[in-house]
Amino acid sequence: MNKLNISQIISDGRLSQEYEVNAWVKAFRNDRFLALNDGSCLANLQCVINPDDYNSEFLKKVSIGCSVNVKGTLVESQGKGQTVEIEVESISVLGHANSDDVRKTILSPKKHSLEKLREQAHLRVRTNTFGAVMRLRSKLSFAVHEYFQKNNFQYVTTPIITNSDAEGAGEAFTVTNLDLKAIPKTTAGEVDFKKDFFGKQANLTVSGQLEAETYALGLGKVYTFGPTFRAENSNTTRHLSEFWMIEPEVAFCDLEGNMDLAQDFITYVINYALKNCREDLQFLEDRLIKEESALPKQQRSELSLIEKLEFVVNNQFKRVSYTEAIDILKNSKPNKKKKFEFPIHEWGADLQSEHERFLVEKHFKCPVILYDYPANIKAFYMRLNEDQKTVRAMDVLFPGIGEIVGGSQREERLDVLVEKMDKLSISKEELWWYIDTRKFGTCEHSGFGLGFERLVQFVTGMNNIRDVIPYPRTPKNLDF
Ligand code: 4AD
Ligand code: MG
Repeated sequence: MNKLNISQIISDGRLSQEYEVNAWVKAFRNDRFLALNDGSCLANLQCVINPDDYNSEFLKKVSIGCSVNVKGTLVESQGKGQTVEIEVESISVLGHANSDDVRKTILSPKKHSLEKLREQAHLRVRTNTFGAVMRLRSKLSFAVHEYFQKNNFQYVTTPIITNSDAEGAGEAFTVTNLDLKAIPKTTAGEVDFKKDFFGKQANLTVSGQLEAETYALGLGKVYTFGPTFRAENSNTTRHLSEFWMIEPEVAFCDLEGNMDLAQDFITYVINYALKNCREDLQFLEDRLIKEESALPKQQRSELSLIEKLEFVVNNQFKRVSYTEAIDILKNSKPNKKKKFEFPIHEWGADLQSEHERFLVEKHFKCPVILYDYPANIKAFYMRLNEDQKTVRAMDVLFPGIGEIVGGSQREERLDVLVEKMDKLSISKEELWWYIDTRKFGTCEHSGFGLGFERLVQFVTGMNNIRDVIPYPRTPKNLDF
């Protein structure tokens, strides 16, 4: 007897062969038609039993949500909706699911809101939508590694507990095992982290970039793919307090090379999804169409989900300097009509997501790479341009998402870097090792960070970032 998963049976199963399946019951009609799903694919496997072979007591136990073991023969299906089905020879219930209890959960077979599903995040993966999203998430992570491994990048893991705030934005979570009821203080009245576990203040990493840079300056081309943590109080559909970031870093590479890499990489992983996750993408596309049908026509997407993905892989991302973008925004309709929450008055303004989305969705109507930002709205490590006021930064902006990538060419000149750190009061003592790399064979190098959940959001068309990670962490929310 063959023990294959359901996706294999449906795609490669041989008629008249016997198969054994372990799965969960999604539906059971007329005591005869059983729809089983084992998570391997979106489609259910129809299994047909002869009710006369079982007593009614047993049939009652075969209920939605329970797990079963089924043995039977694969035959051509007489019904519509599937090409093959299993003619059941034996069935046993492995784990029961009480119907009254099931009715109180999102396992009950009716439409549940995404909010409701979030409250039962431990069960939502059994729904079609979350099965599809999580399979896509898994495939996309594989594609990330495949892309970099194929292109001779080395995978490096960077520390999760650090004592640097790479982005200098003060959004790091402190890690401590000090007794919070009796916090030791210095004579100046500050927390005495010398008494803490590491003998200094520790925090969860906000980015592995600085460590990745040191590795690129030895291994040449590296990438990280790991969890990052930000204590920013942003309650939006695009922010998580714990998210996964992919950070490639390349020696002997300038900003243009960095932009090329970002586009090539994103195109590769989206193409991978288009080739390998068709069934799930189609399901999510249909889901989105249904969801949007409730909206007025002008608010619906012009392109379907798959068309949108195809558009991205088949078109160049538009490269636009910050200065050009400010001109466009300053003269834009929403700016003149005071529709922006943060009106654009002058060069130097930090761009908000409403501005990014205007550029991508209304003005250019394609992914945009903005580059050469004002130095004073960007991090200390970005390379200063000849004009002395902009840095070699780049952000990749995507429709519906806004910023999906942030990166830059790094400041490789020791004197310029040190001067910048002094100006921003960034501790040279703590980052002595980072500065060191500029003393020993420094070189032009560049990298970026891509927020993995924002990529998954884009590919799945899910509107809220909380719905593309198994257990989202956001301000005031730490369930599960
Ligand atoms: O732009 P960010 O802050 O850049 C860095 O951390 C650099 N050190 C990266 C580098 O150059 N190696 O973050 C990079 C990306 C953003 O473009 C966004 O996609 C994602 O990380 N991101 C978030 N995703 C979800 N929730 C949040 N709170 C995020 N903050 C950033
Ligand atoms: Mg950024």
